[in-house]
Amino acid sequence: MKKALLVLILASGVLFAEGYIQPDRMKNMADMETAMATIQKGFLFNNINVVKNGVKDLKERVQHTESFMKDGIGENGINNMKYAKKEAVAISTMADEILTTFEKGDRYSAANNYLLILGKCLSCHQIVRSW
Ligand code: HEC
Repeated sequence: MKKALLVLILASGVLFAEGYIQPDRMKNMADMETAMATIQKGFLFNNINVVKNGVKDLKERVQHTESFMKDGIGENGINNMKYAKKEAVAISTMADEILTTFEKGDRYSAANNYLLILGKCLSCHQIVRSW
């Protein structure tokens, strides 16, 4: 029993060392997914405070994205860390835009910015992970 546990721990250590599966990164991503869902909920229930919370959480989490990326040119031919940094700034600006447009009652612009962010999430997954 103990031996099996040790093997498991060692095996997962190897996996994490490869940088392929990172629990912290997955948690950060899952938190961003929750923040996006919160923003959408705020739209649908027309509740500015819910939108505000989602935007705040998203902006907070997106800052951490680059810390999970390797510096230097990756197998995909780009510097994933620099790319992540750039995308985090863009996502954060769009998140602000969601709030300002929603506050003005311009829900379509808010929803449009939401979609632009979703596009950014998907592009990174495509570029970094080839999903
Ligand atoms: C700069 C690149 C990058 C950006 C931007 C990005 N992601 Fe990710 N995302 C990743 C990577 C890399 C993984 C794979 C995580 C792993 O396996 O360690 C991932 C995985 C995920 C997952 C799956 C996690 C799991 O448990 O399998 C979700 C959900 C997710 N991202 C949500 C988002 C959302 C929402 C956004 C936009 C707000 C976003 N991501 C933006 C790089 C990015």
